[in-house]
Amino acid sequence: MIGRFISLEGGEGAGKSTQVRALAMALEARGIVVVITREPGGSDGAEAIRALLMQGDVARWSPQAETLLFAAARADHVERTIRPALDAGRWVLTDRYVDSTRAYQGIGGVDDDAILALHRFGSGGLMPDRTFLLGLPVEQGVARATARDGAAADRFAARGEGFHLAVAQGFERIARDDRDRVRLIDASRPAAHVTADIMAGLADLLP
Ligand code: TYD
Repeated sequence: MIGRFISLEGGEGAGKSTQVRALAMALEARGIVVVITREPGGSDGAEAIRALLMQGDVARWSPQAETLLFAAARADHVERTIRPALDAGRWVLTDRYVDSTRAYQGIGGVDDDAILALHRFGSGGLMPDRTFLLGLPVEQGVARATARDGAAADRFAARGEGFHLAVAQGFERIARDDRDRVRLIDASRPAAHVTADIMAGLADLLP
């Protein structure tokens, strides 16, 4: 069995965590062994870094420091969780990966080549076999995330609509530049349809 690496990306409230779980069930029904994970986090070290990233003032970190923290968390996540699972023939489904750094920290003026260079240094440049970008109108995503998180919004979710619009444009650019790997999914549809679209987008990778 060949391990496959799948990432789900998108803005707040796009339904990534729901889809990661639904996709895991659909793959397990086909006899595939699945590991679900997320970023920032997914290993002990990366979860410790997550607390530094998610809590505190919006301006706690400079865009550069923040980018380094995400890259450090990812390096640990890849080494301790993702690589071992892939080597064991498991499928790894992650809720966010390096494209989130490109979309979010890219807005802070961190250049895409620098992010990819850090990714090569920290994580051996490991890229997903396939990435699903869950897209929906920004207002709809922000409304969903607000209904979910309310006052508990983290450093990123607390930013304004202009920020989330820029994130969405960043993701769309990544999808346009890498059509083989990245598939755009309309996440405004009912969850079961979204899962079916994702499964259809994996057809060529399924055993
Ligand atoms: P999280 O609470 O995991 O939830 P959600 O994915 O539902 O928003 O929030 C992670 C936040 O961190 C999210 O706002 C995006 C941000 N982020 C980055 O800015 N860069 C990154 O590289 C990653 C992985 C996440």
